[in-house]
Amino acid sequence: MGRTSLTRILTFGAFDLLHYGHMRLLQRLAGRGSYLIVGLATDELISSGGKPSPFYPFDIRREMLLHTRYVNEVVPHGGAVDGAGRVKLIAAKVEMVRDLKIDEIVMGADWTGEYDFLLEHCRVTYLERTPGISTSLIRQARG
Ligand code: CTP
Repeated sequence: MGRTSLTRILTFGAFDLLHYGHMRLLQRLAGRGSYLIVGLATDELISSGGKPSPFYPFDIRREMLLHTRYVNEVVPHGGAVDGAGRVKLIAAKVEMVRDLKIDEIVMGADWTGEYDFLLEHCRVTYLERTPGISTSLIRQARG
């Protein structure tokens, strides 16, 4: 069975301090019989708007995702910067869906509605988050 017969799924995120909430999401995505691509947020995108830098830099976050049994490909997601220095995320996402021939975008339910602008290009699905775990919680717990 060639790759073309698989549903091509794209999911976006930072996936910093990879945890079981991330793993369960990726497992459910891979379970859909898909070729799974992660649009991995660049360090610059994560720390934009005064937010803290990721604990692990991009290359480590990418490496860990590729070491899971679920992820087939990782592509950077940062978006082009416009003249005013703003990241053009919507345009970048539309471009990725087109270039990577994506059939479906799947995100955790905390993003419900946020990706509906892609509905004219592909299916958009939101899955329940795993309760009680997040990168922010781990970072807070570690101080
Ligand atoms: N996710 C999930 N269940 C969790 C945490 C995350 O299903 N408990 C999903 C998110 O909904 C998203 C993907 O994993 O689709 C990547 O999430 P990301 O924002 O990188 O991780 P969080 O742990 O939510 O990070 P933060 O605390 O910084 O928001």
